[in-house]
Amino acid sequence: MGISIRSVGAYVPSYVETNHDLARQINTSDEWIRSRTGIAQRYIIAPDQSTTDLAYGAARAALEAAGRPDIDLLVVATATPDRSVPATAPRVADRLGISGIPAFDVAAVCSGFVYAMAVTEALMRTLARSRALVVGADAFSRILGPDDRSTRAIFGDGAGAFLLVADPDSEEVLLGRDLGSDGSGHDLITRPSSGSASVIDHLAGLQPYFAMSGKAVFMQSVRAMVQSSENALKDAGRTASDVDLLVPHQANLRIINAVADGLSIPVARAAVNIDRVGNTVAASIPLAVHDALRAGKLRAGQTVLMTAFGGGLTWGSLVLSWPDNVAH
Ligand code: UT7
Repeated sequence: MGISIRSVGAYVPSYVETNHDLARQINTSDEWIRSRTGIAQRYIIAPDQSTTDLAYGAARAALEAAGRPDIDLLVVATATPDRSVPATAPRVADRLGISGIPAFDVAAVCSGFVYAMAVTEALMRTLARSRALVVGADAFSRILGPDDRSTRAIFGDGAGAFLLVADPDSEEVLLGRDLGSDGSGHDLITRPSSGSASVIDHLAGLQPYFAMSGKAVFMQSVRAMVQSSENALKDAGRTASDVDLLVPHQANLRIINAVADGLSIPVARAAVNIDRVGNTVAASIPLAVHDALRAGKLRAGQTVLMTAFGGGLTWGSLVLSWPDNVAH
């Protein structure tokens, strides 16, 4: 039995916030944001929407592209669930008109989609599931400090989804995997005062806004993504020179360039959409894949390397052989 990809779906909210819009609200400029991050605009969730709406939009797009097959497993990667209790996935399943199936969230922040793909693949085998939706969805605009220019410049909202299918005729798509974490850096990317440590955080005077030590994270993220990519390529029996398309987490264009450089992969072989969507956290990789498919940059038979790094700290990479006829 092989596990393949049948379709890819994407959803972004309708409101576009440009760098110029941001510069009218906080002390920043289009020039600073473009030159330091490569971002020109990002999408922001509507006041009456939540992460469930984003995840539902991407899941429905993937299902419709594939002709609405029955689903028997749903996994949502998110760090911004609608509420800390319950998870987002059961509600997304309900919105899709599905009940009774296993549905749960994976929390690995920007590495969430890579983790969710690896978890879903394994569960499809052990639970004998034949059609699974893996969704990456985040609404970081909801947790950013209104005056925090270093995070408001970067993060945007959105969701992406893959429909995985398992059947005896499918070629194996996932060739190599690598996942890792280092909890000693848990406070470098964090949202204090939002969980069971709220009382402790409150006593320490921490605000309930997302906080990132950007500089400290920058170099670690490059090193971790290069090392993790090499581990996944080794697991797949491939080398970086075999990679036709690198799909890096879209955190910062300078990080994307440094990862490509560290792997000696020409940057022309990297999927880049950060200019349009910003850093969409768990949605970043599936949204970049969706854009690459639409641009004709991702074709059957190509070797694809996905790599991500984020809060936790966490990192993960996947090597795939891109299948035929992926609908989008
Ligand atoms: O996605 C998960 C993992 N996350 C990452 O990988 C993010 C990695 N980090 C980064 O992408 C970058 O560190 C940032 C884009 C967040 C920041 O860029 P930087 O080049 O590292 O800037 P910095 O934090 O060292 O700040 C340099 C200066 C500071 O001013 P002072 O203290 O030198 O006067 C900041 O206050 O730039 C200032 N600054 C800004 N200025 C204008 C920070 N954000 C802005 C802004 N507009 N939006």
